[in-house]
Amino acid sequence: MKKDLLTFKNMDGELINHLLVLASNIKQSPSEYAHKLKGKSVVALFEKPSLRTRVSFDIGINKLGGHLVYLDSQSNNLAGRESIGDMGANFSCWADAIVARVFKHETLEQLSAASSVPVINALCDQYHPCQGLADYLTLAENFDDLSKVTLAYVGDGNNVTHSLLIIGAILGCNVTVVTPVGHEVSDDILSYAKQEAEKSGAKIHATNDIQEAEGADVIYTDTWLSMGDDTPLSDIKDKFAAYQVNQALLDATGAKYVMHCQPAHRDLEITSEVIDGDQSLLLQQAENRMHAQNAILVNLLA
Ligand code: CP
Ligand code: NVA
Repeated sequence: MKKDLLTFKNMDGELINHLLVLASNIKQSPSEYAHKLKGKSVVALFEKPSLRTRVSFDIGINKLGGHLVYLDSQSNNLAGRESIGDMGANFSCWADAIVARVFKHETLEQLSAASSVPVINALCDQYHPCQGLADYLTLAENFDDLSKVTLAYVGDGNNVTHSLLIIGAILGCNVTVVTPVGHEVSDDILSYAKQEAEKSGAKIHATNDIQEAEGADVIYTDTWLSMGDDTPLSDIKDKFAAYQVNQALLDATGAKYVMHCQPAHRDLEITSEVIDGDQSLLLQQAENRMHAQNAILVNLLA
């Protein structure tokens, strides 16, 4: 049966650790993997804009000897022209895998149901699994033992937060989520992460109190308004101001590093000072997107 990579939910910790080791090997020894996707073609269907995901998949697949066809659903007027299922069935006639960035998670489920080849989630409203895997690779490169690390996510509870919670809970990494009131993570995903944490030993905690980020090893943030959220910035700016990630927060919590999936909004959710400072892991995260995704592709296709 074909496998997909839609959420990382219910994935075995051993398989996630295997993907992290594979990503690290691909990063260290690219020539050993240069032909792993020889003759393979991947379709990338994007309903939303992307810089990192699009470029890292395209260049990454090329480095593995494969080929990517990019489809911009909006500017090519593909959305609504035929059903997503019909698109998936047609992609499966030519492609070996489908990468998709969509507004709704259900779209990925429909695509998967109609496709005979693996579907990889390149971001949806609920999850950003490729980002999450790259971020745990980045953490593993900076800490010897993920079970001794506490990641504090500060800001809007969103798709990136969900993936950090899911993967962290399975791997045994402690995750504290700090959000303003009304911007919490999904109850279902928090409960799922807490259940997984009982098995892995991770501590999973959600709060509205920024002081509870104290003692974290890493502070992570993301945009206050995700793609597809049309709330005017002026409506939420004051509420989020106390959750800005800045040098004062890094100093107060004692965190060693700062992370952000990007695109970053300088001097809104995160200050330029910390993006460009010595504690920043942002570009290491961006580089690792490619290696993590290549590990996923090699695992699913090679
Ligand atoms: N982090 C991330 O997914 O960036 P893009 O939206 O630019 O792909
Ligand atoms: N939460 C953000 C992530 C962007 C990579 C969004 O969905 O827009």
